[in-house]
Amino acid sequence: MKPSDLDPLVDALESELRPYRDTHHTYTKLPASGRERWEILAEMRDLAQREEPKWRGGFASGAVYHGDAEHIAFLNEVYAVNSQSNPLHPELWPSAVKYEAEVVAMTASMLGGGEDGLPSVCGTVTSGGTESILLAMRTYRDQAREERGIREPEILVPVSAHAAFDKAAQYFGIELVPVPLDDEWRADARAAEDAVTSRTVAVVASAPGFPHGVIDPVEDLAEMARRRRLGCHVDCCLGGFVLPWAERLGYPVPAFDFRLPGVTSISVDTHKFGYAAKGSSVVLYRTNELRRYQYYRNATWMGGLYYSPTFAGSRAGALSAEAWAAMVAFGEEGYMIATQALLETAATIRKGIEAVPELYVLGDPLWVIAFASDEVDVYAVMDRMSARGWSLNGLQDPPAAHICVTLRHCQPGVAERFVADLHTSVEDVRHLPGSKGVMAPIYGMTGATKTRGTVEELLARYGDLQFKA
Ligand SMILES: Cc1ncc(COP(=O)(O)O)c(C=O)c1O
Repeated sequence: MKPSDLDPLVDALESELRPYRDTHHTYTKLPASGRERWEILAEMRDLAQREEPKWRGGFASGAVYHGDAEHIAFLNEVYAVNSQSNPLHPELWPSAVKYEAEVVAMTASMLGGGEDGLPSVCGTVTSGGTESILLAMRTYRDQAREERGIREPEILVPVSAHAAFDKAAQYFGIELVPVPLDDEWRADARAAEDAVTSRTVAVVASAPGFPHGVIDPVEDLAEMARRRRLGCHVDCCLGGFVLPWAERLGYPVPAFDFRLPGVTSISVDTHKFGYAAKGSSVVLYRTNELRRYQYYRNATWMGGLYYSPTFAGSRAGALSAEAWAAMVAFGEEGYMIATQALLETAATIRKGIEAVPELYVLGDPLWVIAFASDEVDVYAVMDRMSARGWSLNGLQDPPAAHICVTLRHCQPGVAERFVADLHTSVEDVRHLPGSKGVMAPIYGMTGATKTRGTVEELLARYGDLQFKA
């Protein structure tokens, strides 16, 4: 496929990216004079209202994890109270310091840190799961350089781990060594140990991983890391605010947190199942010595002494205030109740998927449920689900799709509607041949044209589009 052959696909993607091209004015330069505030707000309310039905009605996989109108109104009020706050200036906003320190402490205490002989886990607030992961990987790189003289670091990353680990490897000049999965879609701990070299700085586990919602054998990986004196990062971006409560509710949750002596860092997203607004996460470290590698410090800058704990300089203190407010508003009891509803709804959905003879569930997930098929084209099923309003996540290698169950799906009738629509969608495509492709579906691309190079070119052009007015 020549780059020019991608034009029709790019056009199709563009109309999805820019549905307002023909209905709303596009600014390519500043308006000569400012518009009325009420008019701007009215336009924004119009756009937001058009976009809301999908996620509000529970048609989305993941994306909005709480979404109840009252909760959103509460968080919006919290933002309004703290809208000027910037943790870069603690002398002006010591409240931001309080909120962030307490978000870290509360999160650490949920995940095996804290008192009574447990490690005194520390951490920082970040802007999201990806930033938490990037920071942790850079921390291990710099620790290994300083303490072990490693110049060409490697990280062991299960192939089911989030793309953020590959992003970290690309950004920071770390070599990513892929770790295969076992039959249950969990990282193969023995293969990970076999892949350790003198340049290995850390091993990664997910609890659970994004694609299949499966929890890796963290205990084995962490113990191997401890024996070999490596870092062990557990990505709990999805699970950090679910698994502690699932465990207390009696669900089968394997050990995954700082109670395992080999676990040295954890990423955990307040902006997912912590039910905070988008833009906050936490990265936790077992020791303060390790966290120090994350800090940026400059003692000689003409602008003065400069220190910042994360990638950004100025940051929205209001987002940390929202994370704090969400956590304190829920409390342990609130998270337990939410988790029970979430896991019961997920069980209904999983059972519904398993009842479709052509589909099978990958691994043994709790609330992120991936399904594949040897008989029907699972991407065609996804297309049919999209036509019915659903927004699922397409997976590849093997072709599969998943639904990340959230509180949106706990609304009455949503799980049942999902199951009914899935049955009908499989009916719709039963006559089509099964999918043997290896790339996730992109409109109009056939198996023959879906080479990695063309897909990468398409993604680059999609990126160019994103910030074009
Ligand atoms: C397991 C896991 N890790 C990391 C991330 C990245 O988080 P974010 O999109 O907040 O950067 C995600 C996002 O879905 C995830 O599911």
